[in-house]
Amino acid sequence: MAKNRELVIAVHGGAGFKKAKKGQLDCIEEVIRTGISILRDGGSGLDAVEKMIILMEDSGLFNAGSGSHLQMDGAARMDASIMEGKDLMAGAVASVSGIANPIACARLIMDKSLHIMLAGEGARRFGAHYNLRELRSIDKEGLKAVKRSLDSGGDQARLYKSVYGCETVGAVAIDLEGNIAAGSSTGGFSPMLPGRVGDSPIIGGGTYADNRGCAVSMTGLGEKIIRCSVAKEISTFSELGDSVSIAAGKAIMRLLKRIDGRAGAITLNRDGEYCLIHSTDFMVGGFIKGKKMAVADQFKRVL
Ligand code: GLY
Repeated sequence: MAKNRELVIAVHGGAGFKKAKKGQLDCIEEVIRTGISILRDGGSGLDAVEKMIILMEDSGLFNAGSGSHLQMDGAARMDASIMEGKDLMAGAVASVSGIANPIACARLIMDKSLHIMLAGEGARRFGAHYNLRELRSIDKEGLKAVKRSLDSGGDQARLYKSVYGCETVGAVAIDLEGNIAAGSSTGGFSPMLPGRVGDSPIIGGGTYADNRGCAVSMTGLGEKIIRCSVAKEISTFSELGDSVSIAAGKAIMRLLKRIDGRAGAITLNRDGEYCLIHSTDFMVGGFIKGKKMAVADQFKRVL
């Protein structure tokens, strides 16, 4: 184990069109400090990513876990995925209700089942089998926002822009073994038909990690991100020789130019190169690399 390897973490709490609140920035700072202490103690990148996302899901400050948006029938159905870059192992949950930490369920699916993804009631029962905490209450503001947005009419992207500032949480990390990992978790966006699934549980869509390329967690409108397989594309560009920043910039520009999709990404490769990049006005997130740490709601903006 390379004890002197420089540990790096990047985290996001969603890209969007509104400035982050102080509570969100404070939460991200705490999340990063927790993650880095896991890595310093020899925990894996997967352990750090899972724990950091659990903290954001539990905070209620982001659109994930207890802060999830509600679907049009008033239910929270959440998506999450996690992946590691050494053996390309991955786990995901789609459209799951009733569990507090979808990312923990995704990790269990990866570790304990023969599958990659479980959905809906099957995912909930799988989580319950492993005694995952139940999600009991959800902020009803999400439902009010859905109703407001339904009244306003117009296309999906414009509704999304008008209603919500930030969406989706995610994390990437490299551990002392030099393995990278990525994870994402979301309550979707608004308005959503019951059963809608976004990019966050799609391996290669919203999450990807390959030691030969890079780790990626996406944020933005899933309906656009899935169609361009953005997370995998960033990792592939990186494997083919681009820096993670160039790779992410190219993929995010392609998403914008090809199908008018705006998004944000965090990326990290085995050399510890990372970036936080977005084509939205804001993206709340942060990183730590050695002694350098920053938390903000704007990073590298493309276009
Ligand atoms: N990026 C999260 C979603 O569209 O569901």
